[in-house]
Amino acid sequence: MTAGTTHKDVLDWANARWDRLPAHPGLRARADEMAQKLAGEVSAGRLPFLSLPFMPELTATLAELEAGFLPRFTHMLLLGIGGSALGARALQKAFAPGQDLPGHTGKSLWILDNVDAATLTAHLSRLPAAQTLVYVVSKSGDTIETIGQYFLVKDWLRRELPAGWKDHLLLNTDEKKGYLRQEATQFGMRTVPVPDNLGGRYSAISAVGLVPAAFLGINWRALAQGFAEVAAPLAAPGLEAKTLAGHPAFELAVWAKALMDAGMNELITFFYIPQWASFADWFAQLWAESLGKNGQGSQPLPAVGVTDQHSVNQMFLDGPRNKACLFVERAFSPDDADQGPIFPTDMPESFNYLQGKRFGELLPAEALGTRMALCKHQVPLAGLRLGRANEHAAGKMMALLGATTLLTGWLMGINPVDQPAVELGKRLAKARLGAAGLEAEKAELAAFTSVAAGERGF
Ligand code: PA5
Repeated sequence: MTAGTTHKDVLDWANARWDRLPAHPGLRARADEMAQKLAGEVSAGRLPFLSLPFMPELTATLAELEAGFLPRFTHMLLLGIGGSALGARALQKAFAPGQDLPGHTGKSLWILDNVDAATLTAHLSRLPAAQTLVYVVSKSGDTIETIGQYFLVKDWLRRELPAGWKDHLLLNTDEKKGYLRQEATQFGMRTVPVPDNLGGRYSAISAVGLVPAAFLGINWRALAQGFAEVAAPLAAPGLEAKTLAGHPAFELAVWAKALMDAGMNELITFFYIPQWASFADWFAQLWAESLGKNGQGSQPLPAVGVTDQHSVNQMFLDGPRNKACLFVERAFSPDDADQGPIFPTDMPESFNYLQGKRFGELLPAEALGTRMALCKHQVPLAGLRLGRANEHAAGKMMALLGATTLLTGWLMGINPVDQPAVELGKRLAKARLGAAGLEAEKAELAAFTSVAAGERGF
């Protein structure tokens, strides 16, 4: 087996530029403290995203849904936002890309993660209710964007299917709290569990992402298996410092925090697996919402190869020197099955180096070119190279990046599982819509909107 055909997943540190990151030895020395914290949080049940206690029950539930309920539907309409939507979208785009390709006839997943009126109207006027399952995902059960859509979609179902509307709803929400839970109880709706302490952005490998995956026929077992392989050592009882120190998530977290300490406050995630582009968006939310705290953090810059070579890459290479890069690709081999068509022999002379090559050979050549150019421009770069771009590898990557985010937050001394700053905008929007109470917000809004406008025409 040549190096190109092995299926190892590796992190490549050759261009990480530790030499420019003076904080890293001190951060590494904190493995003991971090291991103790991790062990404590896991044993207190506060990190189910790593310890996965819900997985046996979820596996049974998914198998059951897959066997009888999900096959009844051709369309799934997912209502959710943020961590309740981005994982599902990444999985869909990576492993069920058919919906974006010509001639699609199979299952379709529609994700409504915004409050665009035209989009909602279009979905409700075009989807056949009788073949549609509405999957409402909200951990809190109170998120205005999701619940706002739920009211209207529920109305639509009731109108279209007066007798059986309830059978077209599946709710994923907290077991006890929130409006959606009240709805589930009142109407006896079908639900899937979202365990305590499993926050939105850490929940992709739970019913949140795996129900849509099962619906689309994605290998969710391999996703869960890959995820568990990376997460399990971190969730093992009595985690030791040396185990944590040897775990790639800790190494990545040390690197990420050392970068911030060195003033590199933007992190490019360059995905050279085109169908995995949405994982960059999934990660951006995970990283930004977890780590943007107290004036600290690093701004995620999601990018996809090769498209962004012709877009934002100039800035990556020659803009402010405040960027590092996580470069995600898969090991390429000329033996790979789907390399696309072969270039014809009658090529113009200026392109004749392509003759006889397969279309699929462009991607690894361009990936190498960009990776090397970034390194030559002194951008610290960690390579995440996957043997195969399959569900198992995606599960491993998601666990790695989730654990890295958590550990980076702890190294920063912040809480990586809350998001207090985004609450203000939500309260102000509710106040603007006239929600009861919120008197202080209403007064602040009045003051803000009465300031003499700084508007100029353009
Ligand atoms: O990651 C998070 O915690 C958030 O992005 C939430 O997922 C998002 O705000 C939606 O929340 P909920 O699932 O409670 O509707």
